Amino acid sequence: MPDLYAVIGNPIAHSKSPFIHAEFSRQTGQDMRYEAILAPPDGFTIAVTTFRQCGGKGMNVTVPFKLEACNISTRLTERADVAQAVNTLIFDDNEILGDNTDGDGLVRDIVINLGFVITGKRVLLMGAGGAARGVLLPLLEHQPRMLTIANRTVQKARELQQQFSSYGSVASSDYADLVGQKFDFVINATSASLSGELPPLPPSVFAAESLAYDMMYGSGLTPFLQFAQQHGVIHLADGIGMLVEQAAESFSLWRGVRPETEPVIEMLRPEL
Ligand code: ATR
Repeated sequence: MPDLYAVIGNPIAHSKSPFIHAEFSRQTGQDMRYEAILAPPDGFTIAVTTFRQCGGKGMNVTVPFKLEACNISTRLTERADVAQAVNTLIFDDNEILGDNTDGDGLVRDIVINLGFVITGKRVLLMGAGGAARGVLLPLLEHQPRMLTIANRTVQKARELQQQFSSYGSVASSDYADLVGQKFDFVINATSASLSGELPPLPPSVFAAESLAYDMMYGSGLTPFLQFAQQHGVIHLADGIGMLVEQAAESFSLWRGVRPETEPVIEMLRPEL
């Protein structure tokens, strides 16, 4: 019997995780199976328990269950604890370990795949929801000169600033107050792209040679990446690299072997 893993969420039909993990296991010769589980909105815990009883060794968790996954974990890694969100569960006989590999995925994509240095740079993170919280600690571990969190509801950005200021230099802002400031990295962690919208970002924020990074992806450029391109930014990245890297980190935690991500990113990359 191959070892059993799954991604759980709602909706789940369009998840690319089964494809990604099938490629990783083929590439590394791991004897495992990885499936997708659709849980009803109020049925997360029972679905996880059932999967565990069937011999499941680990799970990826996606929208809308990342907070619930945090709550059912018997132990959390620091990065999952500060994010208050779990995207990776590791089961053993007496324990459910909750981890969060999203931020590691983002940082690996920026630093290793795209070749940018975060240390000493000015980073603007747009959004103050779960997606933003999940990447703050790994970004701050690279010691940017300043990490500014901008959010439509500025109070939420202020709360994150307070929570994370012990990990590095963090500021918070609304969008209008960004006028006159420049950033080397502008990262979109809002859900605005999902509805074809754009945060009200002043175009003057992009420094020369800046990287515009959208944690979302789709076919073609997201509205944020189109905006950045229209305002002269040449380094553009969507969230495909982050998606594959966070999966690779989960895979390494489960199997103790790190797969090659580049060929899988190439397979998934939509025609831009
Ligand atoms: P997620 O888990 O994807 O982060 P979330 O917790 O609902 O989802 O957070 C969504 C984030 O996107 C929030 O920061 C939200 O801003 P508000 O806190 O002001 O609501 C942001 N967001 C969503 N749509 C947006 C838009 N059209 N313009 C700017 N920010 C937007």
